[in-house]
Amino acid sequence: MKTYISPNYPQLCQAVAQNVIDCVKTKPDALICIAGGDTPLGVFAALVDAQKQGHVDFSRTQFLGIDEWLGLGKADKGSCREMVWHHFFDKLPLRDEQICFFDGLTSDPKAECQRVDRYIDRHGPIDCVVLGIGMNGHIGFNEPGVSLENTCHVVDLDAVTQAVSVKYFDTPREVKQGISLGLKTLLAAKNIVVMASGEKKSAIVAQTVNHPATVDIPSTLVKTVPQAALYVDNAAASAL
Ligand code: F6R
Repeated sequence: MKTYISPNYPQLCQAVAQNVIDCVKTKPDALICIAGGDTPLGVFAALVDAQKQGHVDFSRTQFLGIDEWLGLGKADKGSCREMVWHHFFDKLPLRDEQICFFDGLTSDPKAECQRVDRYIDRHGPIDCVVLGIGMNGHIGFNEPGVSLENTCHVVDLDAVTQAVSVKYFDTPREVKQGISLGLKTLLAAKNIVVMASGEKKSAIVAQTVNHPATVDIPSTLVKTVPQAALYVDNAAASAL
């Protein structure tokens, strides 16, 4: 897997944003999928800036959310929906029909998975996906031990993911389940960017690169497809 190391987080975000911009320039109606969480926040800022400067035109682009905590919606600070809208979608002149995102407040998660799978059947495969890496190696909410055959699915969140989740919320939350795109959909994307920043990610980045591909560390599976690349800053690369 090709690995690109940037000196710092801002330059890492510029490099990843440029990858997304190149994808949209080549295919204006591309299907783009960018993770929530802390890692891509600088990418969102760089993309919003590029749109304002006229360097990219998202008017025909489709955006697909990767995952959501079940039970949380846009009003819940720290939900994927709240983060991605606040940092990205609300800052772009997008129409509602350009966005497909899991509804974490659904009363019927299975039907919600089917709705998003149908959307992917219509608009997919994903042209460009930007993934973060969880501390346990999850990508999206594809937790250790996940099946390679999954499309959209409901996930029992791993203990590590539940423990890490407190960093997103301003009030205590019990998040036991999530809803996520599956590995079958993510690994079929035409261009896969796996992104990590900071010293705290250095151990899982080293495992992602050095450990043989295994469902027990889902981030290692990206090495099984040729169209995936790892983008890290110096701190995240420090154990390589
Ligand atoms: C969130 C997502 C997760 C995160 C991962 C890293 O939508 O898909 O897989 O990318 O948990 O989270 P951060 O970036 O907060 O370290």
